[in-house]
Amino acid sequence: MKADVILGLQWGDEGKGKIVDLLAPGYDIIARFQGGPNAGHTIEINGSKHVLHLIPSGIFHPNITNLIGNGVIIDPYIFLQELTLLRGKGLQPENQLLISNRAHLILPTHRLLDACSEKCKKDKKIGSTLKGIGPAYTDKTARNGLRAGDIFNPGFKDKYNTLKELHLRQLKSFEIPLQDILMDGHDLVTYENNWFSALEEMKKLAFVDSEIFLNDSLASGKRVLAEGAQGTLLDIDFGSYPFVTSSSTSIGGVCTGLGIPPSRIGDVYGVFKAYCTRVGNGPFPTELHDETGQLLRDKGNEYGSTTGRPRRCGWLDLPALRYSILINGVTRLVMMKADVMNALTEIKLCTSYNVDNKHISLPSFVSQNDHFEPVYATLQGWAQPLPCDCPVENQPKNFVDYIEFIETSTKSKISVISLGPERNQSIYKAD
Ligand code: IMP
Ligand code: MG
Repeated sequence: MKADVILGLQWGDEGKGKIVDLLAPGYDIIARFQGGPNAGHTIEINGSKHVLHLIPSGIFHPNITNLIGNGVIIDPYIFLQELTLLRGKGLQPENQLLISNRAHLILPTHRLLDACSEKCKKDKKIGSTLKGIGPAYTDKTARNGLRAGDIFNPGFKDKYNTLKELHLRQLKSFEIPLQDILMDGHDLVTYENNWFSALEEMKKLAFVDSEIFLNDSLASGKRVLAEGAQGTLLDIDFGSYPFVTSSSTSIGGVCTGLGIPPSRIGDVYGVFKAYCTRVGNGPFPTELHDETGQLLRDKGNEYGSTTGRPRRCGWLDLPALRYSILINGVTRLVMMKADVMNALTEIKLCTSYNVDNKHISLPSFVSQNDHFEPVYATLQGWAQPLPCDCPVENQPKNFVDYIEFIETSTKSKISVISLGPERNQSIYKAD
């Protein structure tokens, strides 16, 4: 068998969580391959809203195994909170959850380092979620990190203290009083206590060599769906660096974050919103600062599910979408939230960028740094509600035109259209 993949094509928050939950019944295993508690995957089932940060979005299907892969980084305290929340909803997530021994841990001092590093950037802030993502991945590549499998070793506390001491020395150089920095309302001492208690709880879960487990599972005919977090435009290599996250959010992250070879990758579902949003700083060529932007924010409830921050909103950016499709080898496009634009009489799409009077159809290194203007096409809005129980060909003509415009200009087919947060608000489109 081959593993299929769901990943984001924009700046995250595309709605991957809903799509993973929707497609999950076709799979035996859902495996998260990168990111950490910076992610916020929202799933709505029968009117109840669930937000997941670390636990894969297949957890609401009782017969599916959910795996946290080696490419993910885990804060035990946040992980336990999530587990407790799910238990409160009547689930027993521990029965269907596996953790890779090789997943790295986010220490409390990683969060302090994140906070100090952002503070020092002054007006150049990345807009990090401050969950310790950058510093934890830095320690991974610097070969200092602690891994999930280490927590069972008798020497774990010593290793923890060694790394913490290193962090405290690094923190001194920022000259910021540490007592001023709270993490989810806690100072270092309290957070650390909570962290270690959570670690004891975490030990009761199942830890595996997930790369072997996954390859064995695929060889024995099990169906695997790899779940990404954030989006391609936040990728450490291909995103709008330095305004990115610290992991490979694109297709390469599936191989390194799960240990499965490229030859074992099947369909790649690329999820995008019918418009664009971005939370945090960095370039956003099609951003709207007007009432249309506010309408998208309000109707789309575009507020961060991890941090509550208002998301920046703008028109669909086709050069960026083409780029993400290219990088990931997307085989199936999934379009989310077109219903948010139901009230608009006119809709714009950015078709290219004008850089020094040259039109370019893909973002380039130059266009990330120099001044450039988005070039727009304007389509008529459908200006009416979109029915979820009706095939695409019977949808309002202006909506069909919008879909076809995107398909033509990306040379890709849209397979699934989501018109609301619930599972049944989804239309499958024939190829
Ligand atoms: P970090 O990964 O928390 O360091 O944040 C780096 C950048 O990625 C910031 O602009 C964040 O707002 C953004 N970011 C991180 N995770 C997500 C996510 O899950 N959705 C949307 N944006 C994210
Ligand atoms: Mg999100």
